[in-house]
Amino acid sequence: MFKVVVCDTISEKGIDILKNHKEIDVEIKTTTPKDELPKQLRDADAIITRSATTIDKEFLSYCENLKVIGRAGVGVDNIDLDEASKKGIVVINMPTGNTLAATEHTMTHMLNCLRFMPNANYELKYKHIWNRKKWMGIELHGKTLGIIGMGRIGSRVAIRAMSFGANVIVYDPYIKKEKATSIGAKIVDDLSELLKNSDIITIHTPKTNETYNMIDKKEIEMMKDDVILINCARGGLYNEKALYDGLKSGKIRALGIDVFENEPQENHPLQEFDNVFVTPHLGANTYESQIRVAEGIANSVIDALLGRGYENAVNIKMEEEEISELGKQFLGLAERMGSFLSQYVKSFTKSITIYTHGEIENYANSLSLFVSVGVLKNMVDEHINYVNAPYITKERGIEIKSEIYKEKTEFKNYLLIKAEYDDSKTIEIGGTIFEPNKARIVYMNGFDMEIELAGNIIVFQNYDQPGVIGRVGAILGKYDINIADFRLARKDESKEALSFIKTDEEVKDEILKEILNIDGAIAITKVKL
Ligand code: NAD
Ligand code: MLT
Repeated sequence: MFKVVVCDTISEKGIDILKNHKEIDVEIKTTTPKDELPKQLRDADAIITRSATTIDKEFLSYCENLKVIGRAGVGVDNIDLDEASKKGIVVINMPTGNTLAATEHTMTHMLNCLRFMPNANYELKYKHIWNRKKWMGIELHGKTLGIIGMGRIGSRVAIRAMSFGANVIVYDPYIKKEKATSIGAKIVDDLSELLKNSDIITIHTPKTNETYNMIDKKEIEMMKDDVILINCARGGLYNEKALYDGLKSGKIRALGIDVFENEPQENHPLQEFDNVFVTPHLGANTYESQIRVAEGIANSVIDALLGRGYENAVNIKMEEEEISELGKQFLGLAERMGSFLSQYVKSFTKSITIYTHGEIENYANSLSLFVSVGVLKNMVDEHINYVNAPYITKERGIEIKSEIYKEKTEFKNYLLIKAEYDDSKTIEIGGTIFEPNKARIVYMNGFDMEIELAGNIIVFQNYDQPGVIGRVGAILGKYDINIADFRLARKDESKEALSFIKTDEEVKDEILKEILNIDGAIAITKVKL
């Protein structure tokens, strides 16, 4: 028998599936105080949770027998995936079950922000005030809705808003442009264009390093006066202090939020405003969605416990036994090169070709997989792993190919990645391992260099003329940013140079802009590995 403990409320339909299975013994601990819960899970084989249970390292230290964590929902940001993986615990989620519920909840928040329905309801029902003048609204028809993140939920919000007569602008650098344009939405390459032109803005990205505090004071200042903001995705995507200031100053007309940086959250400063509508993370709370999610997660947890399959597993590592020590080092390099590539191009990548030379030709498939994982990591909500990466690249229309490298090379083993992006642009990066265990990128777009792909890196391209590099150093120095490593590569024929500048800390976008204003600068991008 396997013991499955349900830690957060899920639909009875899912619990029935578990109860009716002869090899499953179910325990419901939805009312157990969260600080006592881990101690009661010592003999659990599987647990099922939603976002209310935080599964961190300490929590997992009590779960001596745990094999499977079933997350009845999309986001796995409440689970320490690395620690779970280290302990060999499979984490499974249900990414599509609550998409419609979250979409409709977003529309509800949007309409409330436009019409102040909850306030009028409260006044009439509980204070018996008939006040038609006070609660004047505005229409969605004819307004411009900016959608940040055009995945499952963002794309459905777009369709619904357009049926109300709204114009939709989308910012999502990781999708095929046609995903937005084919439904009549406009896609922009620059977030600031969306911020400046939208009457209403809603965000539907996962919470990643890149999206955390994506909308802060500076971004709110760029917005139109009287803007309406919605967040039914994850707390912390909009900086909560910046929202507070924007409401206080009158810049924000209304705010609808379903999610907070710290949950549960009963006394947040944002609640002081009449024009803020809050819900306690109800996006997925419809009977239909909870049935879909609960039935799905119950079946997946049973399958995983019985070893029958791992659909939607977010952390299963591939088998690596057959790969040599050197091959394994190249797999690590491949993933980093993939991550570098997606952070550098920051837009839809149409195709990626992986060229291999030397012993690593034997591992071309695994290398392609690791490059895909690296490329997808910053883009999508699912935790990307070696099981789901091929499906997700396919779903997103990214073609992955591998070929033998046929040019001459001085390296015994060489990995070159060529990617096509933004319709007609291309990027090439080459890497190798110098023995022992020195993973380096050695080539980029016609420039030869050698640098370790780790930490905070600025990639700076300029015309090869005197003084440019000195000025870059001076600007970084002015802001007290320490340069940990600086590699310069030159291409005589084009009179261009490319620098990789490693810094001890992440360099703010304003500073990058200042560097880009130097006479002779061509392009600048930062990546974090
Ligand atoms: P998804 O993975 O289908 O879509 C996310 C989209 O965000 C992708 O298209 C991706 O390309 C895009 N994206 C990633 N980084 C970006 C960036 N820096 N800038 C712009 N776009 C970026 O996810 P989904 O199922 O649509 O879920 C969206 C969000 O909603 C997630 O955060 C999820 O956890 C949350 N969610 C909340 C509830 C709730 O109860 N409130 C319910 C379901 C989902
Ligand atoms: C999710 O990530 O699926 C949502 O936050 C909903 C939930 O946790 O129930």
